[in-house]
Amino acid sequence: MCGIIGGISLSANAAATVYDGLLRLEYRGYDSAGISALDGGAITTVKRGGRVSALGKDAAALAGRAAIGHTRWATHGAPSDINAHPHNSGAFSLVHNGIIENYAELKAELVARGYSFASETDSEVIVKLIDDCFSGDFPAAVAAALRRLKGSFAVAVLYAGFDGVIVARYKSSLIVSGCKEGIFAASDVPALPADAENIFVLEDGDIAVITSGGVRFYDFYLNPVARVQRHIVRGEYDSDAGNYPHFMLKEICQDARTVADTAEAFSRSADLAAISSAVGDAEEIIITGCGTAYNAGLMARRYFEQAGKRHVRIEIASELRYYPPADCSRALVIAVSQSGETADTVEAVRLLKARGATIIAVTNCGYSAITRTADIVVPVCAGAEICVAATKSYLGQLVALRLISRARSALAEAEELVAVARKMPEVLACDEMSSLFADECAQSSAVFFLGRGADYDAAVEASLKLKEVSYIFSDAYPAGELKHGTLALVDESTLSVFVICQPLTAEKCINAVHEVLCRGGRVAVITDDDALAAQLVGIPVWKLPAVNSELSPLLAAVALQLTAYKAAVLLERNPDKPRNLAKSVTVE
Ligand code: G6P
Repeated sequence: MCGIIGGISLSANAAATVYDGLLRLEYRGYDSAGISALDGGAITTVKRGGRVSALGKDAAALAGRAAIGHTRWATHGAPSDINAHPHNSGAFSLVHNGIIENYAELKAELVARGYSFASETDSEVIVKLIDDCFSGDFPAAVAAALRRLKGSFAVAVLYAGFDGVIVARYKSSLIVSGCKEGIFAASDVPALPADAENIFVLEDGDIAVITSGGVRFYDFYLNPVARVQRHIVRGEYDSDAGNYPHFMLKEICQDARTVADTAEAFSRSADLAAISSAVGDAEEIIITGCGTAYNAGLMARRYFEQAGKRHVRIEIASELRYYPPADCSRALVIAVSQSGETADTVEAVRLLKARGATIIAVTNCGYSAITRTADIVVPVCAGAEICVAATKSYLGQLVALRLISRARSALAEAEELVAVARKMPEVLACDEMSSLFADECAQSSAVFFLGRGADYDAAVEASLKLKEVSYIFSDAYPAGELKHGTLALVDESTLSVFVICQPLTAEKCINAVHEVLCRGGRVAVITDDDALAAQLVGIPVWKLPAVNSELSPLLAAVALQLTAYKAAVLLERNPDKPRNLAKSVTVE
């Protein structure tokens, strides 16, 4: 994953812009960081294990008109000073996002030619290879080296004899933008200076040569290619936590706005007829995604079934890309991805499209790889989501998926969703209850989330949220399955959180509550049913506002996101940057 930024500054201060950009890119990885700056024909590199801020003022103060920077999520080689990027060779310095799959073979070849390697990374082979390919022409050396790579990469390269930066992309996101400060390329929009409003999105196989004279695009054989500039609305990329202690809390508080904005955008969409016929014509619907996006798909399968579709599957993208159905010519694939750049989802979409499937992308990023591959794009209007754990984007995905399943009656459906969003502040205002739930979680050796029907789907996402930000072991089960195994784990150190908003199975869930209680397990319940809440004495019961039971999981999601957030804070974890994780998983 990792985030990269590099460019040329009109002042002699490129490193400062790069440093600021890296701080805003940390959601892509934060185990080490580094910057190289080019000044007067000499490259200086500062790199270190730890967060970007560990680089200190020295890095931001590096002089020079051109600079590159990196914030890392380790794939090859532990997080350390040595493995941090940039990696250097002779007069070259490079940062890389992605994975080089043939690095071992290339490294052996380079070692045989006399190169020595300082790090354990796959990335270092790229810069040595560029050095090795160099015979006086920088772009030609970069292009020749890139043609030898297998895997995925976005790179930015400095050469001591060139007043600029060369960047390139293959299967890892990269954009370029001009602004008052100069011209910068980065993995994503938030890294760019605030006044950067027009971007070029590099395609796979693009090289961009950035100098103070402008930016030129080429393919890997240095044939010029034309790329169109797009305008972006920077308000969407507000990457400041404002008065909130963490982005996660800020973003949970934006759940309601995301639901309303996504519903409104959908009902105004010019694609309603196309969406309706894509759903109507499909013999089979395959919903796919990873992590939280997959969990949104899990819930969405019910939306389509409730709307009368018969063959609806949900597939984890990393499985689907290797185990696709033999015939997808009559299939509609709905790819769900906040970033639109998750490598497994991108590859699954490309493969199924090549096999004839129609693709609808549900994404929060209008210029992403998935967006550009899809036949129809349904936007999630969450704005920038910086916390690694997805919160508001999950709500937006649920809304988009619900409306896709009912495109014919989009207006009425959107209104119902907006009405649910209006109840969300009431859920967020339950401060005592969310603190009590969080406290119960924080005291537990394991937390089981249980529910039935759509409540089970909400439980799956609640469990993911809790484990990613608090590191408490957690799992989710359909409540009826408890007695088939998990009950063996229940004792006073465990907490079972029941989501009970489906009238059809509410009584059955209550049986399971008692089964846990009489074995000494601790229980907490979330429900929208007054009568049921009144029956449950002596345990924490969070009463949600009553809404259509198909949509009540949206309110449960808000409550359980807040619980996970507060549990993380109680345990003194940083919920915005959980250990070992990153937001945009652009590698396999
Ligand atoms: C990572 C993130 C999750 C996210 C998943 C899918 O694992 O930590 O929060 O749900 O990737 O990301 P996407 O951008 O495809 O929704």
